[in-house]
Amino acid sequence: MCELVFAARNITKQYRKARSREKFNTLMNFQMEVHRGDIYGFVGENGAGKTTLIRILAGRSEQTSGELELFGKSSEEELYKQRGRIGALIESPALNPGMTAKDNLEVLRLQQGIKDRKCIFDVLETVGLEEAAYKKVKDFSFGMKQRLGIAMSLLGNKEFLVLDEPMNGLDPEGIAELREILQKLNQEQGVTILISSHLLGELNQLATCYGFVHAGKMVEQISAEELKEKSTSSLETYYMSVIKGGRR
Ligand SMILES: Nc1ncnc2c1ncn2[C@@H]1O[C@H](COP(=O)(O)OP(=O)(O)OP(=O)(O)O)[C@@H](O)[C@H]1O
Ligand SMILES: [Mg+2]
Repeated sequence: MCELVFAARNITKQYRKARSREKFNTLMNFQMEVHRGDIYGFVGENGAGKTTLIRILAGRSEQTSGELELFGKSSEEELYKQRGRIGALIESPALNPGMTAKDNLEVLRLQQGIKDRKCIFDVLETVGLEEAAYKKVKDFSFGMKQRLGIAMSLLGNKEFLVLDEPMNGLDPEGIAELREILQKLNQEQGVTILISSHLLGELNQLATCYGFVHAGKMVEQISAEELKEKSTSSLETYYMSVIKGGRR
């Protein structure tokens, strides 16, 4: 059996409605499983709950109830430890524009207590920014900033990369570059990847499995292979039919 890198078991997240005591569920008994080696395409409409789940996974928010499992561990202490194996890029990366790419990474290296300085150049090479190491981030294109954000989240030999809509705002060339980087990371370094996106055509070229979320619930998880066997239609058509079913 394939090792589980991440599992969400009955996760519920409640928020309070604005100017009211009433609460509403953003995630409801949410179930999810990501296996080692997956490129997991996380799909759902605006407001479905993808970012909420990703923030909980990365430890930036806490669930109201339910359990998380990371690398097979679920105690609070272990989750804290295991999160060191995860790199996350949620929304835009926190970059210092006045500093070079190398120095942005250097600050993070020191914060994380990583001794090996070479790791900075390794991650810059991974994202194709080695030539821009000594360039200030304020002179970077949007695509370069996004790639630097990925380099930052990879620092420290991360095994599981979590990306929330990393293709947003990228031009077609930038999207293709990012796809290549992620495929290489997955195939050559064995990094498991969770990626949320509305670009289904793009996910279709990248993902090895999918999770369809609708209105705070996981409606279906399916491997790319199963999907291929199931239908001749596109990922988009299948997603629409699953979501319709979930609306019952
Ligand atoms: N801090 C918060 N306080 C109150 N409500 C929140 C908060 N964060 C998220 N929500 C609500 O939770 C729901 C899910 O939001 P979330 O950002 O997780 O959706 P999403 O699937 O990432 O959507 P998108 O595709 O637009 O990024 C939305 O109704 C949103 O308004
Ligand atoms: Mg989101």
